[in-house]
Amino acid sequence: MGEPNRAPYNNSMQLTALRAQLMLSVRPQGAHGTGRMTGTEYPVSFNPLPLDTRSLLIRQVVLDDARDLLVLSNEQMFRAWLPSQVYSDESHARSALEFLIGQYSTPANPRQGAYVLVIEHKADRTLIGHVGLSPIDDDVEIGFAIAQRYQGHGLAVEAIVAASRWAFETFGLDRILSITSSANIASKRALVRAEFAHQGDKVMRFQGTEQSVSVYALSALSGPEVGA
Ligand SMILES: CC(C)(COP(=O)(O)OP(=O)(O)OC[C@H]1O[C@@H](n2cnc3c(N)ncnc32)[C@H](O)[C@@H]1OP(=O)(O)O)[C@@H](O)C(=O)NCCC(=O)NCCS
Repeated sequence: MGEPNRAPYNNSMQLTALRAQLMLSVRPQGAHGTGRMTGTEYPVSFNPLPLDTRSLLIRQVVLDDARDLLVLSNEQMFRAWLPSQVYSDESHARSALEFLIGQYSTPANPRQGAYVLVIEHKADRTLIGHVGLSPIDDDVEIGFAIAQRYQGHGLAVEAIVAASRWAFETFGLDRILSITSSANIASKRALVRAEFAHQGDKVMRFQGTEQSVSVYALSALSGPEVGA
């Protein structure tokens, strides 16, 4: 895998600045209100996407993303760490995307179904990754990936912070979990950088194999919306 490029920000002051910048720029653009789903009252932010952060546009998937996501899913690190999300060809990618696009309207709630967004790099409008929320037991889990050519520049952290804040605001979540292979150092460091707290390790079936995983959590109270 080689020596990683290192993120250009490496101290908490820079992270605080990044989060402050995200708090300003990830504000939902649309109307606000209160919604009710499965009997639970939760705040609703209508039409808040795309998320516009310092370097990224984070938006809903469209069918035309199939080719880019096919290429991305076959990169070495994606095959290593997300083997269940590798597409065999463009029609496989398109059918997966059709499913994900359908989830935006039904159930439109990551407590009940996947809500996956793609990440574009603002400078060149290239699709460089994805960040998604999905149900796990009674919780919601965040997953993410960045194209190898763009790794090591803090973009995963930027996407995780922005998507987490949006999810807290939009769906009224109490906390967001993330589960990653215990051997996936880059993923664990990105989560810590995004202020997820390590809850512990356990052995479970993950990405198709029984393996040790590390569980992280970000609570709404300690999450990126504090101070907004
Ligand atoms: C995990 C992943 C998203 C990180 O993306 P990234 O944009 O390079 O991450 P960032 O630049 O925001 O860096 C976040 C932290 O990870 C570290 N990091 C990034 N790549 C690394 C690597 N290959 N090895 C070790 N650490 C790495 C960075 O140094 C940084 O930590 P630090 O600030 O403490 O030094 C990326 O490696 C990836 O897409 N991997 C394949 C998919 C995957 O594993 N997804 C997670 C599944 S839950």
